Amino acid sequence: MNLCVLASGWGSNLSSIIHSGKTGKISSDIVLVISNNSASNALNIARENQIPAVHLSIKQFGLEDEYVRKFLELLRTYKVDMIILAGYLKMIPQQIVRNYKNKILNIHPALIPSFCGKGLYGLKVHEAVLNYGAKVTGVTIHLVDEEYDTGPIVLQKTVPVNDDDTPETLQKRVLTVEHEIYPEAIKLFETKKFNITGRKVFFT
Ligand code: GRF
Repeated sequence: MNLCVLASGWGSNLSSIIHSGKTGKISSDIVLVISNNSASNALNIARENQIPAVHLSIKQFGLEDEYVRKFLELLRTYKVDMIILAGYLKMIPQQIVRNYKNKILNIHPALIPSFCGKGLYGLKVHEAVLNYGAKVTGVTIHLVDEEYDTGPIVLQKTVPVNDDDTPETLQKRVLTVEHEIYPEAIKLFETKKFNITGRKVFFT
């Protein structure tokens, strides 16, 4: 599959997916990286790995339609089969979600449906987990629909919460698991067929 990774920040999930490609854990190619943030380290990581890297933000366009048209044009030009959101903080335009139905994955650093939704991203997720007193948290990979963090779940893995955790220590433990299971989820789409019944995703 040809993958387009969308990222806004540091890009450690992008790095782990690139690494998985190099070590043969996945067979897809990352053909394009897009960031809404020109200062995102993900763009540097892409360039260091000779992957086309594009800064694309709605702020660069007068009209939303022009932004969406450019977005779709990029995806078509690079023959993108699947879109991988890796710390992408913007909503995906509705038309793109519809054109890539069940072909967009997102990673969330908690066990959906807990500690998710608009405004819960980055350290805020881990702060919320600790403030609530949860004993476990985890990672969720899900398909993207037209809302925040509501699409059908593909993979989940739990991570223990320790009594002395800070948001930062918890984030670090969760990130290690993110780097492990995002490539696993991509591999599932490479090697298996899937069907969706209600909210349930089955791989056969
Ligand atoms: C990760 O925790 C991811 O789950 C969340 O944003 C963070 C991105 O980290 N959506 P990175 O940019 O991949 O290092």
